[in-house]
Amino acid sequence: MPAAHLVSTDNLTDRDVERLFARADVFARTSGLRSSRLADRLVAVLFYEPSTRTRLSFETAVMRLGGHTMGFSDIRSSSVTKGETLRDTIRIVSSYADGIIMRHPHAGAAQLATDNASVAFVNAGDGPHLHPTQTLTDLFFLRRDKGRIEGLTVALCGDLLAGRTVHSLATALARFGARCVCVAPRQLGMPTYVSDEVTKRYGGVIEYVDRIEDCLAEIDVLYMTRLQRERLPVELKDVPIPRVDAELLAKMRPDTAILHPLPRVDEITQEVDDDPRAAYFRQAAGGVLVRMALLDLMLSDDEFARAEPPFTPVTPPDAYARCANQDCVMTKEPGVPHRPVVTPWNDRPRCAFCEHALEQGTLPLTRES
Ligand code: NCD
Repeated sequence: MPAAHLVSTDNLTDRDVERLFARADVFARTSGLRSSRLADRLVAVLFYEPSTRTRLSFETAVMRLGGHTMGFSDIRSSSVTKGETLRDTIRIVSSYADGIIMRHPHAGAAQLATDNASVAFVNAGDGPHLHPTQTLTDLFFLRRDKGRIEGLTVALCGDLLAGRTVHSLATALARFGARCVCVAPRQLGMPTYVSDEVTKRYGGVIEYVDRIEDCLAEIDVLYMTRLQRERLPVELKDVPIPRVDAELLAKMRPDTAILHPLPRVDEITQEVDDDPRAAYFRQAAGGVLVRMALLDLMLSDDEFARAEPPFTPVTPPDAYARCANQDCVMTKEPGVPHRPVVTPWNDRPRCAFCEHALEQGTLPLTRES
């Protein structure tokens, strides 16, 4: 049986998601209580990229459940600096720990890692690609605060190109019957692998408006994100993105919740923090409960988080080149096998790691190192 894994929310069935939230509700009622559900379990926390909330909330979750953590949060203290591949690191850590939580700067690194892990694996963010545990935190908040997900209208604002939280979230909202409105500069719109999933897989729509003001009357939730400057090419690093301030608050509906995965930079001014609609700190607090529930189920239940995404692997026709996405783990790590997949809702082959559509023609790969 494969080990439990969460590369994307596709690895959770609807029943898994319900069970996860039910368990997080139980932890919410007993918050502060320590338990021994993960006693004697060791979880590796491998962070190849900076993080505050995600790493500390995972570590808190493991420790509140009585387990132990080990790992690194600075790659200068790992063998990456000696040239070790991600695959080798994951194989080794699988023989030490009962589970692995990994954040990595390259898109698709989570898929590559889980392919090489023999223990439970959680994607804590893979480059600009996905961030499923943030999405579970967001959905958990909506379910508790709004009482439902289905039927909500959510504005996704800011950098929708390089922000991984909104990629996982847009797909999950479409899956659970909510509607998205995108508020982003044209150059920072959703990648096609996300919009294809929303529209072609789930029959949702992706609409764009130019300003938050243009959708204020219809939105139940305003989901803000920062510009992901560290990942954007130089010409996009200073593109102005939408902002929430006291003036915008005055025009907003009294029941619109303002969310943000955090950290915020200046897309929400501090004067907004004391408004009852500012929900981002409460949203973040729920992240520990969701991660406690996730790890508890992944490490103790033989059926949880084992669903495979409905992708059909295909033998690559020569006409499809290796992935040319400069952010993809395949272009960064030597010897990663070429793996096109075809999704049932879109027959153009995509990279199995980062999901970018593959170009026709055998392009020479220039950045492989
Ligand atoms: C996000 C991330 O790392 O993608 N932060 C988080 O995990 N809460 C968002 C961001 O960095 O902007």
